[in-house]
Amino acid sequence: MKRLLNKQIVLGVTGGVAAYKSADLARRLREAGAEVRVVMTENAKQFITPLTMQAVSGNPVHDDLFDLKAEAAMGHIELGRWADVILIAPASADCMARLVRGEANDLLTTLCLVTHAPIALAPAMNQSMWKHTATQENVQALQAKGVSILGPGEGSQACGDIGLGRMLEPAELVDHVAALFKPGCLDGKKIIITAGPTHEAIDAVRFITNASSGKMGYALAEAAIEAGAEVILISGPVNILAPTHVEKVAVITAQDMFKEVMSRVENCDLFLSVAAVSDYRSKTIATHKIAKIAFTEVLELERNPDIVASVAQLKNRPFIVGFAAETDNLEVKAKAKLVNKKLDMIVANEVSVGMRGDENAVTVFWSDQQREFLKKSKRKLARELIKMIGDVMTANAFTKGEMDAK
Ligand code: C5P
Repeated sequence: MKRLLNKQIVLGVTGGVAAYKSADLARRLREAGAEVRVVMTENAKQFITPLTMQAVSGNPVHDDLFDLKAEAAMGHIELGRWADVILIAPASADCMARLVRGEANDLLTTLCLVTHAPIALAPAMNQSMWKHTATQENVQALQAKGVSILGPGEGSQACGDIGLGRMLEPAELVDHVAALFKPGCLDGKKIIITAGPTHEAIDAVRFITNASSGKMGYALAEAAIEAGAEVILISGPVNILAPTHVEKVAVITAQDMFKEVMSRVENCDLFLSVAAVSDYRSKTIATHKIAKIAFTEVLELERNPDIVASVAQLKNRPFIVGFAAETDNLEVKAKAKLVNKKLDMIVANEVSVGMRGDENAVTVFWSDQQREFLKKSKRKLARELIKMIGDVMTANAFTKGEMDAK
């Protein structure tokens, strides 16, 4: 259920017996990766406590249009803008009627007027109330305004009646809400990302490494997850946490990284080689600390495997994106690496711009094309790069499909 990852959901709860299921719904939405903020009407509190909803949603419950404290923190305008979707479950007949009339007499209905996000309702009421012409007219009016009506389901009701009017089960509602969002540009794709530096030990305390914070690779992992991909992040030693939902494989040396990549890469659709891999390692690793005086005599280097170039040699290779940090002649050097390592695309940046900090500016080269991305946060840049990579992969697949058809 990747489509709900990092989505911001306002869960409105109105007065109805089905409100007891709203706690389970909030929990399931969070399990699917969404952030949930609950808004309760006064009547909802007759059926389930704000404390329960706060505990399961992990956020303070919003219930008052005129709460000074809430307005100072996240007021009704911000909350309406914050939402990627407003889901009202259960939605009572009264709430639906008020939404049709565009009333703003409590926080929940006010939010529905403020927001530009899609609104979805999970009606829950007695079967006679659901069948009533007034309710049915309201349903049609809401649908005409673009509101999604999820359910209701049929079956036995709390009042003893049998018929239409039961709130859909939380698991069904989670699926319906996920379907409101478009699939990401890497939906279902398998991706490997290498990130961070490698450490090549020389003796008990010294090692060869490259300057790399891992931030760009980790931001790309997060953006790829958001775009619907399954991500394996093969990372050298860094001081940042892996994004949730990523499978992280921690490595130290280039040889470890090579092994972990090669054992997994053949089933992959995309390989992002972001790691600053050490080109050389020490021929021998002393178990003791080498004396300063003997250091240059002892130190002998040998080449590490070029991981991305090795992946490019595979018969069943994924789409391959390399990264190049350069101090000079950015375009010439990046294009040479694109060709020599047989990559599909290369993302190039000036060392002085992108190293260690939280921002980066890059130029991307592929086939005979290039695109520039101005300086911005690595998170934002990662999202834009992932979108572009997804688009180019789709275009390539389309061209290949056309060629195969000929
Ligand atoms: O040659 P250079 O290190 O500048 O090339 C950068 C690209 O090659 C990056 O994508 C980096 O992850 C990859 N690389 C690699 N294995 C190496 C050296 C670089 O995968 N041993």
